[in-house]
Amino acid sequence: MEKLIIKGGKPLEGEVEVSGAKNAALPIMASSLMADGLHVLEGVPNLRDIKTMISLLEHIGSKISWAGDLKITTDNYNADEAPYDLVKTMRASILVLGPLVARLKKAKISLPGGCAIGARPIDLHLKALEAMGAKIELREGYVKVSAPKLHGANITFDKITVTGTENIIMAAVLAEGKTIISNAAREPEVTDLACHLVNMGAKISGAGTDKITIEGVANLRPAKHKIIPDRIEAGTLMMAAGITGGNLKIKNFPVEMLQTAILKLSEAGLHIETGDTYAHVKAGPGLKATNVTTAPYPGFATDLQAQFMTLMSVAEGTCIVTETIFENRFMHVPELQRMGADIRVDGGFAVVKGIKRLRGAPVMATDLRASASLVIAALSAKGTSEIRRIYHLDRGYEAIEQKLSSVGADIVRAPDGDAR
Ligand code: UD1
Repeated sequence: MEKLIIKGGKPLEGEVEVSGAKNAALPIMASSLMADGLHVLEGVPNLRDIKTMISLLEHIGSKISWAGDLKITTDNYNADEAPYDLVKTMRASILVLGPLVARLKKAKISLPGGCAIGARPIDLHLKALEAMGAKIELREGYVKVSAPKLHGANITFDKITVTGTENIIMAAVLAEGKTIISNAAREPEVTDLACHLVNMGAKISGAGTDKITIEGVANLRPAKHKIIPDRIEAGTLMMAAGITGGNLKIKNFPVEMLQTAILKLSEAGLHIETGDTYAHVKAGPGLKATNVTTAPYPGFATDLQAQFMTLMSVAEGTCIVTETIFENRFMHVPELQRMGADIRVDGGFAVVKGIKRLRGAPVMATDLRASASLVIAALSAKGTSEIRRIYHLDRGYEAIEQKLSSVGADIVRAPDGDAR
């Protein structure tokens, strides 16, 4: 195992570039299962989750090469399943469900079970597939889906689900007839997937709104696609600049997708100037406490909540951070407390009382976004921090220490002899 050693107190200054979005790349990679021939994906980030998806697609039968562009061909299928070993390391493995059911008329997926940030069930994916004519069986930790004749349906999700919306779009694209998804997720990653599927010959309208209509087609063709920038990485970099008193130009920045975060961070005292594809972020004289509530897109992203809480832990005043998407997404709090933060959690709320400065400490990453919040905390803290279990970070942040050290951070990766 490895750890990050960060000496805090260096303002981040210079230019840094955002990578392609992991959460857009994963469903788009899965969608390659739906058409024979060569799919070419540009801008796929080099991350552990992407490698897990490659292993999963290879297990199913894809041939994949990755030198610059990611090239995927699936002309033969060896398996119709996502096995436990892969699903347990990455829940997004569930994204092969829709494509397999659409293409092979059947799928066998290991049940994801609980995870660090809550129960995260897949009942809504399954209910929607049932409405489209699929038969669902739960046996020995696996869900078995068979759908010899998948048909369109009117589906209203009880709760907005991102991967659920993506799975049902993919299933519906090759189903017979029309599917209308109401209360659909509006996340830009859903829109990016729909855009790729349309290039493959699918008939989809309304992606990016809460009502998506899909007219089934008989088959799809392979296509080439450039993955959108990672809005969560971009938001994390803005906060890293803000908390370190920095001055950072962030390139390949998805301005439209980050409007809510830009507004919140401006309220918190950051100066943010945006161009077509960049943001220039300058820290103001100090950070101000600002309440935030997570919500589905275009609301404030739950994937930026932990990082925002770190910022608030050194802002002037007291604020409330409300988490509405996942029930157990305050795992970063005890670690931030070890660095001196004054935070009290009460159910889905955290009351954050700003202190002058965090202190370096040994801390442990608990999930992907919590890890990012600890990195930001360590960058601004007085003294040295050691962040353990950074394999979580490597799931979602490409070349993080290279990017941060190129703009002035004192950060190194080292073997963790003391890993527990
Ligand atoms: C996706 C993102 C993740 C992000 C999350 C919320 C990917 C690969 N991951 O995760 O980074 O944090 O959206 O923006 O894109 N729910 C159910 N039943 C279901 C499905 C979901 O109850 O069948 C609940 C979940 O427990 C959660 C809420 O719905 O409370 C939203 O979850 P969902 O949008 O599905 O999250 P993911 O798609 O797993």
